[in-house]
Amino acid sequence: MAPRALKPRFVVFEGIDGAGKSTQLAKAAAWLRARGREVITTHEPGGSSIGSALRELIFAHELAPEAELLLFLAERAAHVREVIAPALARGAWVLCDRFTDSTRAYQVAGRGLAVPEDVLAFAECGVRPDLVVWLDVPLAAARARMQGRSNPSRFDTLDEAFFARVRSAYAELVARDAQRYRRIDAAGPPDAVFAHVRALLEELGA
Ligand code: TYD
Repeated sequence: MAPRALKPRFVVFEGIDGAGKSTQLAKAAAWLRARGREVITTHEPGGSSIGSALRELIFAHELAPEAELLLFLAERAAHVREVIAPALARGAWVLCDRFTDSTRAYQVAGRGLAVPEDVLAFAECGVRPDLVVWLDVPLAAARARMQGRSNPSRFDTLDEAFFARVRSAYAELVARDAQRYRRIDAAGPPDAVFAHVRALLEELGA
């Protein structure tokens, strides 16, 4: 086997709520496992041992935006130390539903918080995604997909202007680093979207 294929990879799925991240993440995990890779799937917020407690704090309360931001970052640091870094260290692929770019999109662009990049990097504890897949869908399509959800979070009710800022933030990240960030048009059926995701995983040496 080529050495490149043995390298563990950290792949993040980003996009607005209802973009189909968890569906694509599950498909990617199954595909990688069928190729003999060890894979872990995880998500933010919620992947660490304090994840469910923090989700509850974040989503059940109207917090000051700065406080909310710091809770997302605290959970990220715990998540990296407890789950992501150990998995990468033992050679597993890590597929993560949301990571630092959600903070850039939602807190920085969406809410207008000026968060220094150093602070975002601090919370990552030295880990950096090899690939960030932005699943881009129009807001109306995402809303339609979310209608079936029984328990929408406070974030699911944010308005159109907010999501337009979130979308521009992702677009800007892709424009700035087209190697690490890839946009996929995620409006189509899941299998068609996954064909694009799979091509990106192959590029990474899967
Ligand atoms: P969640 O219920 O996990 O749904 P999904 O990821 O499927 O959209 O909700 C996560 C919410 O948290 C989502 O609206 C984005 C938001 N979020 C932030 O605002 N900042 C962050 O750093 C992260 C990780 C998530």
